[in-house]
Amino acid sequence: MQQPELTLTEHRPFQTQRKDTWWVQPMAVFLGLGVFIVYATFRVFEGNHFLPEQASYLTPFYSPLLFGTDAHNISHSWFGAMPDWMPVFITPAVLILWAPLGFRFTCYYYRGAYYKAFWADPPSCSVSEPRKGYRGEHSFPLIVQNIHRYFLYVAIIIVGILAYDVWKALWFEVNGEHKFGIGIGTIILAGNVVLLGGYTFGCHSLRHLVGGIVDLLSKAPIRRNMYNCISCLNRRHMLWAWMSLCWVGLSDFYVRTIAVTGWQDYIIF
Ligand code: FES
Repeated sequence: MQQPELTLTEHRPFQTQRKDTWWVQPMAVFLGLGVFIVYATFRVFEGNHFLPEQASYLTPFYSPLLFGTDAHNISHSWFGAMPDWMPVFITPAVLILWAPLGFRFTCYYYRGAYYKAFWADPPSCSVSEPRKGYRGEHSFPLIVQNIHRYFLYVAIIIVGILAYDVWKALWFEVNGEHKFGIGIGTIILAGNVVLLGGYTFGCHSLRHLVGGIVDLLSKAPIRRNMYNCISCLNRRHMLWAWMSLCWVGLSDFYVRTIAVTGWQDYIIF
C-alpha cells in the first residue's frame, strides 16, 4: 500500500502544520509562572511581614527561619538575630530560597513546561524553533539539571519542617498562656503541607530511587507498595505541581495580610 508522504519543511520560527491552539498551554505557563516569580521576588526581598505577632503563622517563603529580623521573630528563629555583617539585601528568605527554587527549577515537569514557555525550545510538539542548534541536557549548562535528585532530599526535609510549622500554628497566646486552636491560617498552612507533600512524594527521582534499583518489585513487597503510592501521585505530577505552587503563594499572601493589617485570625476551634 502506498504511504502518504509527510514532510515538514521549516522556513521560519513557530511554523507548524498543527491546526489546534497549541500556543495556549505555553502561554498559560508563561503567565502563571511569571506572576508567581514576580510576587515571590517581591516577598523574598521585602524581608518583613513573614510572622505575625498575633499568631505563630510562619510563611513558607521564610521557613525554616534561620535568623529573625526583629524582637518578635528572633525568638522563633533557629540562630537568633541576623548577623550585623550580613548585607542588607540578604533577608531570611534569601538564605533558604535556593532549596525550594532549585527543586522546582530542576523538576522534570517544570523543565518541559518552561523550556516551551520561556525560551521556545521547542515552543510545542511539531512547532518550529527559533534556533537551529540543539545541545539538550547532555552538555553544559543544562546538564546541571541532573542535580534534581539531590534537591529531592532537601525538599523532603523542608516538607517535614513545614509540617512542624503547622504544629506551631496550632497554639495561640491567650492572656500569657499557650492555648490549642485551629485558625483559618492553620488550615491554609496545613493545606500547603498536603499539596507540597503530594508534589514532592510524586517526584520522578523518588520513584526511581524507590523502584528503579530492583529488577523484580514483586519480590520486595514494602518497596512495591511505596513504589505504587509514588506512582499514584506521579500520574498527576503536573496537577500537584501547580496546586502546590498556587497554594504556597496563597499561604504567604494570607500570612502577610494578617501581619500587615494586625487582624486577629478567625479561630474555628
Ligand atoms: S520530577 Fe518534579 S519534583 Fe521531581
